[in-house]
Amino acid sequence: MTAPIKMESPLGARMFIGGRVVDYYCGTSYFCLHGHSEVIEAACEATRRYGMGPGTLAHMQVYADLQERLRDWFGTDEVVYMISGYTSPMVLLQGLRDEFDVILMDCATHYSTRDAIPTLGKRVHEFRHADPEDLAAQLSLHVKAGERPAVLTDGVFPSSGRLAPLGDYRQAMAPYDGALLCIDDSHGVGVLGETGRGSLQHAGLEGEGNYLAGTMSKAFGALGGIVPGSADLAAKIAGNAMIMRGASPAPPGLAAAAAASLRVLQATPEKRANLVRNVKHMRSGLRTLGFDVADTPVPIVTIKGVTNLEQLRDRLAERDIIVRVQQPGGYSDASDVATMRLAVFSEHTADQIERLLQSMGELL
Ligand SMILES: Cc1ncc(COP(=O)(O)O)c(C=O)c1O
Repeated sequence: MTAPIKMESPLGARMFIGGRVVDYYCGTSYFCLHGHSEVIEAACEATRRYGMGPGTLAHMQVYADLQERLRDWFGTDEVVYMISGYTSPMVLLQGLRDEFDVILMDCATHYSTRDAIPTLGKRVHEFRHADPEDLAAQLSLHVKAGERPAVLTDGVFPSSGRLAPLGDYRQAMAPYDGALLCIDDSHGVGVLGETGRGSLQHAGLEGEGNYLAGTMSKAFGALGGIVPGSADLAAKIAGNAMIMRGASPAPPGLAAAAAASLRVLQATPEKRANLVRNVKHMRSGLRTLGFDVADTPVPIVTIKGVTNLEQLRDRLAERDIIVRVQQPGGYSDASDVATMRLAVFSEHTADQIERLLQSMGELL
């Protein structure tokens, strides 16, 4: 399938594409909430009540309800909600602008953080991808006495599914008073950690000095960026991040969909359990096929080393199994060789995953 994929149903583990029902392993709808009936109904109901958008910064109860639910879930004083996940690192970093002097950034960090950097007016130095030793080396090279560094990275890298070694980063940062760790956790929130609060929770790093920016568009079936944190952080964001004054939030229907997504996820713990089970199934099956696959709970699983991945993708599509091949340079964290990215969902059945693995075994 080299032509753009033409979707004819909501994202899901089984969906309509090009007039066919297919098994789908692309994208980021890890719990298939984009097509969940309660999420869709919540969006419709709020849209009927409030219309398509605020058209102003006026208050609507639907945003307050979402923030309250998010606050309870994150256990923070506040959760700032804005138009998109893409803007959430900018909002976080602008809020913290007076708390750091110099930036150290993983060289494969997502565009969302890169685009925020020119708005901060700080020196920036990159360290090698997911390499705590190089972070330590770059910190000692670039941080002058008394300066406070901010270390920026994705929590989960979107193409490769690689988990940033956050605990090792914190150790490398230990000699620097006031050092901040700020992650774009778009692919971790909802998925990782004991209660799904993301990569910081997974790494046991929730708390002072460690911050996340996330999205409601991936594990959750909606739209909008989020920054959880203290009342002090929220006040700094309100003071420094002009998007909070100068741009509309996501439409009320999307805020309602975001709240409904979280409600469904909390009320259906088997979704998270299924995702864990399916990720294990996929990773161990690929290992049996001879692939070198890391042992992490991340639902983005990548393989490389097959001479013609595009051919493999096309042969799988002939069997109504849709997967994605990422070309070198094709995304912020793309590998220097082509990779196949398999997105695992809680709603994939064991039989579906077995069919994919068996088909790959036959086609390799
Ligand atoms: C790491 C990362 N950050 C930010 C975003 C943007 O999130 P959104 O699409 O919710 O604006 C993406 C989107 O794919 C992403 O992969």
